[in-house]
Amino acid sequence: MASQLRVYVPDHPLIKHWLGIARDQTTPPVLFKTAMTELGRWLTYEATRYWFLTLETTVQTPLTEAPATFINPETPLAVVPILRAGLSLLDGAQTLLPLASVYHLGMVRDEVSLHPSCYFNRLPERFTTGTQVVILDPMLATGGTLMVALQELTQRGADPALMRVISVIAAPPALQQLSNAYPSLTIYAAMIDQGLNEKGYIVPGLGDAGDRAFGT
Ligand code: URA
Repeated sequence: MASQLRVYVPDHPLIKHWLGIARDQTTPPVLFKTAMTELGRWLTYEATRYWFLTLETTVQTPLTEAPATFINPETPLAVVPILRAGLSLLDGAQTLLPLASVYHLGMVRDEVSLHPSCYFNRLPERFTTGTQVVILDPMLATGGTLMVALQELTQRGADPALMRVISVIAAPPALQQLSNAYPSLTIYAAMIDQGLNEKGYIVPGLGDAGDRAFGT
């Protein structure tokens, strides 16, 4: 059976709470950054729930032997924050994935044409087969930025079926484009919003995530 893009919106009160804080235009940058960190944490928690590869073994407690389940340390794990805004999700994701390699990818969107381009690329030349990749991109508007990022990742051997995209708000144009191009991809978002305005901002959205996280 052909695969189909999977988009999960976890029903968790902490995710709703921090999304509300992030959306509120009166939230100051320092609290906005906290909200994004928390969203990064809880969305990553949800995204890894059935995704981590585990090892079943036994450990010796002070009393006796007990079964134990561990995250398989052999599975290569990468986190790719899409700069700038994706950095705001990184602290939260990293608390749950302390052993993951972090590869930064800097993307900028032309404000008139909305066309994205890559200005900074720290991806490895080649991903080890089987690498699980968490991509941090908080605002999926047109999907153009993530499309360019996915091209960079897949041409280095990363498999879309082994990726999890952590996003705060996704809009239908992005989901449509990603569904057509990468049907085996899985996205975790705090919310799917109505659409975009004429400047490419998500509505109702939360404004420019990079500006709000970094106070610019
Ligand atoms: N990027 C943002 O930061 N906000 C949007 O609404 C769309 C893209």
